[in-house]
Amino acid sequence: MQNGSGFEKYRCYRLENDCLQLSTMDLGATVTSLRFHGREMVLGYARAETYRERDAYLGAVIGRCANRIAGASFSLGGEIFRLSANEGSKQLHGGPEAFDRRVWTGEATNQQLRFFLSSPDGDNGYPGNLQAAVTYRLDGACLRMDFEAICDRDTVYAPTSHLYFDLSGRGRALEASLQIQADRYVEVDEELLPTGRLLPTRGRYDFRRLRPIGEDYDHCFVLDGQDCCRLEDSGVALEIRTDFPGVQIYTGRFLPPPHHANSGVAIEPCFFPDSPNQPGFPSVLLPKERRFHRWIEYHFRKTQ
Ligand code: GAL
Repeated sequence: MQNGSGFEKYRCYRLENDCLQLSTMDLGATVTSLRFHGREMVLGYARAETYRERDAYLGAVIGRCANRIAGASFSLGGEIFRLSANEGSKQLHGGPEAFDRRVWTGEATNQQLRFFLSSPDGDNGYPGNLQAAVTYRLDGACLRMDFEAICDRDTVYAPTSHLYFDLSGRGRALEASLQIQADRYVEVDEELLPTGRLLPTRGRYDFRRLRPIGEDYDHCFVLDGQDCCRLEDSGVALEIRTDFPGVQIYTGRFLPPPHHANSGVAIEPCFFPDSPNQPGFPSVLLPKERRFHRWIEYHFRKTQ
């Protein structure tokens, strides 16, 4: 990190092996850099404060609930919970001062990095005292993330990782090729809220075969199984596996400077948008004292 970049204000942790070099910081449990054989694979900022100034969620952990919640409210056990809204009347990515802007407690060994966060009862409107943990681990050319949590009340929990990938380093994500193991996607309205319908992935939504991304997307795909997707560009292939039920693909239409529109693609294995209000979607209910656990694996490979 360069002098004057401001990262000394935060605790930064690194993991590395022969293939991968991971840099993180405690603000948002954020991945600030991920290098594969020395080449940068993700978008980051040169200055630490830019992570606070912009709201692109670069590399951050999102919580408590990723994506949008209609009317910034939901009901659980007959009670209505009002959340803090930060996108008109909706809540986006857990609210205005959510997990991506919190300073997590880090713990490093040479094998893994763990980040912990206590989210108090009523945090951005969510019920219960929630203890969240995120673990980063390297295994050869694989970065694995584990998301764990436990709460002292029934609550909802739907975190994700908001990494933007640019495997080429050229800032032209739409030229990368993508394959998504999804026969359906979540239909959304003009406010990007689900209609409740899951539609077949036809035409522009059909990524069952590897093909250039080509145009803008901001959609959640319904995964068939744990093989999530593959991204290929400039001699590198990234395969993502997960036990989350969906993946949000966001091609960065509104990426703020110093990046530009479409300079990276956010691939967010996650639950579906507005899940707390959608009885037909996989449940994000986290019952009291029940352990939450979901994982994501990022496997890198050279193709040339
Ligand atoms: C994505 C979301 C986009 C946008 C972005 C943050 O996860 O799908 O609609 O809100 O985060 O700029």
